[in-house]
Amino acid sequence: MRLNKYIAAAGICSRRKADELTLAGKVKINGVVMDQPGYDVKEGDRVTVDGRLIGGPATGGKTAERKVYYVLNKPKGYITAVSDDKDRPVVTELLTDVEERVFPIGRLDCNTSGLLLMTNDGDFAYHLSHPKNEVWKTYRARVSGIVTKEREAKLRKGVDIGGYVTAPAKVTVLKQNANSAVVEIAIREGKNRQVRKMFNAVGCKVLDLERIAVGTLRLGRLLTGHYRRLTRQEIDALLAL
Ligand code: URA
Repeated sequence: MRLNKYIAAAGICSRRKADELTLAGKVKINGVVMDQPGYDVKEGDRVTVDGRLIGGPATGGKTAERKVYYVLNKPKGYITAVSDDKDRPVVTELLTDVEERVFPIGRLDCNTSGLLLMTNDGDFAYHLSHPKNEVWKTYRARVSGIVTKEREAKLRKGVDIGGYVTAPAKVTVLKQNANSAVVEIAIREGKNRQVRKMFNAVGCKVLDLERIAVGTLRLGRLLTGHYRRLTRQEIDALLAL
């Protein structure tokens, strides 16, 4: 089995993150650093990530924790990570009664709230975060200024966010006030701070940002800071995207 798949299957992280860890020299096979994500893990190989044994003979070959799937309504002020070297609050702290080592799928800025999927299933995470699957992510943004028809059309068609032109988006102005607006925007990409940069590109500033849906899954009435398990139907619907 390919090394990145093996690591993801052990519930450590996504395949992409496994590649990063491997290239960074954090992965060892039988005590020797292995920096090739494409390495084919053999029966009996002893694989460690950051010094931690995952599978291999010493653990009886068991790599798999029970797979779990959660949706969290992330509050502002939390970093989307499993740990932080500056000791800031991280999203995994909010899943207080979850014993499995879950990690977030994709990323929300510290100052963004809303729907965040958490799992220990690397394949599930890979499916949802791989750009080729183009999963729609929907946000509700409160922005400064007037979202004119012209600005709306630009956002919809694609804007330059600094050397990258965004793919077509879905945009609905829900409310226009004197100096601000509430806009629903759905994108299929996930560039760093993309929604904020898109509004900046048309002369508006994001004042508040909440993710309200990922693919078919909506945040619904889940309270801020709360989480729940996904149902089997919800998991299957996300896998079908
Ligand atoms: N776009 C942003 O600007 N921030 C997020 O957190 C998500 C999408």
